[in-house]
Amino acid sequence: DWTSAAFIDTTIAELKETLGGDKVVLGLSGGVDSSVAAVLLHKAIGANLHCIFVDNGLLRKDEYEQVLEQYKHMGLNIKGIDAKDRFLSQLAGLKDPELKRKAIGRVFIEVFDDAAHEVTGVNWLGQGTIYPDVIESVSVNGPSATIKSHHNVGGLPDFMKLKVVEPLKTLFKDEVRRVGKALGIDDVILGRHPFPGPGLAIRILGDVTAEKVEILQHADSIYINELKSAGLYDKVWQAGAIFLPVQSVGVMGDERTYENVICLRAVESVDGMTADWCHLPYPVLAKISNEIINKVKGINRVVYDISSKPPATIEWE
Ligand code: XMP
Repeated sequence: DWTSAAFIDTTIAELKETLGGDKVVLGLSGGVDSSVAAVLLHKAIGANLHCIFVDNGLLRKDEYEQVLEQYKHMGLNIKGIDAKDRFLSQLAGLKDPELKRKAIGRVFIEVFDDAAHEVTGVNWLGQGTIYPDVIESVSVNGPSATIKSHHNVGGLPDFMKLKVVEPLKTLFKDEVRRVGKALGIDDVILGRHPFPGPGLAIRILGDVTAEKVEILQHADSIYINELKSAGLYDKVWQAGAIFLPVQSVGVMGDERTYENVICLRAVESVDGMTADWCHLPYPVLAKISNEIINKVKGINRVVYDISSKPPATIEWE
């Protein structure tokens, strides 16, 4: 019989045994997996776990600051790195989704490698890999996935030559959540919707600019906050706003406007492999739409995505 308490005890004992007095670096993403892996490792080796949290500028509004604060509060030995400008400058002018993903993966590796070099005498790379990541080639989330799918771009960075420790490698997602809960990790982290490694860059169709990121962050935060206050956030598997590079005519007072469109996406799913669009209540959609159009400068139209996967995908890029 699998219990999270037994898993935690055995895993911490094993980690202590394997790691001894060694140092581990681990990239935190704000997601469930890397957070649970970090707390387990922290319980086993304390300050010898060096966590790195990269701000790629493509996270949700205020998420970097809030999550960093939360990690610090949890007692983790964590270094936050502001790399917003590095990511944005490498994304400039890129329109193709795969080129955008590659650029983000490459910059992440460079930034992470620099940060890992600052941890003197490090021997191990910690990763939040879970069982489905092991059996599928593409993982849903986290820096570990980014690292794996991009490690053949150029030479191997130094941190990839480290020995790898993956304490969650045998667990499914629901088990990771149960372990996280038993470890006392906040529901804000455990209940967070899946969020892609390339972040908002793949929810801004076409080229990414600081201005578009800001518009999308604003619209997305209105959307997500409204789902939360309507009690719907935990019922939806994944939700997010998408910035469409389409302008349409609108009217504001006596004036004609010609501005961009925000699309809302919300899906029900078990594992992201298939998904149904959520039948969100009309009054909730109406409120979100009004608020976005009234408050977000540069947006005069909101649409709702009613496509399921397959044949559509969850993300638009
Ligand atoms: P799709 O769009 O393929 O998404 O239906 C399925 C799940 O995967 C996430 N996703 C990604 N996660 N890097 C990631 O870490 C990516 O490049 C990426 N693309 C999609 C998506 O958010 C959904 O949960």
